[in-house]
Amino acid sequence: MDTIIGYTSENNNLENDSHIIDEAAGILKNGGLVAFPTETVYGLGADFLNEKAVKNIYAAKGRPSDNPLIVHIADKDAIYELASEIPDNAKKLAAKFWPGPLTMIMKKSEMVPKYITGGLDTVAVRMPANAIALELIKRSGVYVAAPSANLSGKPSTTTAEHVINDLKGRIDMIIASKESQVGIESTIVDVSGDVPIILRPGAITREMLEEQLGRVDVDPAVAGAVVADGVVPRAPGMKYKHYAPNADMTIVEGDNKDVIDTINRLAAEKMKAGYRVGIVATSDNQASYKADVVLSLGHSEMEAASKLYAVLRTFDKMKVDYIYSESFKSSNVGTAIMNRLIKAAGHNIIKAHGSE
Ligand code: TXA
Ligand code: MG
Repeated sequence: MDTIIGYTSENNNLENDSHIIDEAAGILKNGGLVAFPTETVYGLGADFLNEKAVKNIYAAKGRPSDNPLIVHIADKDAIYELASEIPDNAKKLAAKFWPGPLTMIMKKSEMVPKYITGGLDTVAVRMPANAIALELIKRSGVYVAAPSANLSGKPSTTTAEHVINDLKGRIDMIIASKESQVGIESTIVDVSGDVPIILRPGAITREMLEEQLGRVDVDPAVAGAVVADGVVPRAPGMKYKHYAPNADMTIVEGDNKDVIDTINRLAAEKMKAGYRVGIVATSDNQASYKADVVLSLGHSEMEAASKLYAVLRTFDKMKVDYIYSESFKSSNVGTAIMNRLIKAAGHNIIKAHGSE
């Protein structure tokens, strides 16, 4: 399949990009697939009421079909159509955080087909904070079912180049726009019960949600990081190995100096054995490491989130065999970064040992 690539203007000028958005909206309306930018990661969209188009999303990504899709909207009031009950908590969160990197799970209305929800009685809804995405949804005249625009099992895409690498030839159109600022997928919160539950951590943190709602719980599949036997994650997607780079990845936890020493020791062993080694570091520590490729996640948690997937994809490109990563504190956005790192590493975490 030939994929149309629509490059948007430098400064995302909606007027200049109008013809691209019109073309993409027409494709969505007619049952095609369009990858588009959002503030979190790129999305791969289809008309949520077109079953064939939605099936094509799963085929293009190689995604398991029991994994439900988020419905993207351009107007907060769309929840009254999509959900059968709108809890007060949902109203509060929509008012405070939409458009933005937050997805809410609510009881679905009759209108929402089961092929979107993986057979569940709930629906996931998000209003993205990206002018092109919002305009695309509006002009298409449909709600847009969209998973992240990556091949299943690969890190989500945060640049147009990532999307082109994964999906060119598999979908109708790619809107090639700017880099996604947030860089990790939206926070998913289930507001359908008495106590809201975070199913996937993101840039809207537990702390921020609790400030609005009071008590907010975290699904054990997120909090415990390891999906223990018998613990079924409430977001079906969380059970799959995700965000995986090709290399064997290990996260090292502990005091900063111990982490640096341990990673350098492990890296040296592997390099001596003839392997290529990559290291994921914070800016402060980057110069302390010796390996084939040492990549920095920057100075802050927000910066780390925005760089994470590009860093993982760079390791694939550089063909490293082993990756060692520093860990992050499990609070605020650090929780979301750790959640993604742990999945990338297939739950492979070790403690650093001091050289005492
Ligand atoms: O930031 C994002 O959320 C991006 C952009 C494109 O909006 N989208 C995204 O979609 O990350 P996806 O499909 O890669 O991840 C959606 C997650 C999956 O883990 C899925 O299982 C979960 O949301 N999900 C969808 N509907 C659900 C539902 N009704 N109940 C529980 N989890 C649901
Ligand atoms: Mg995804």
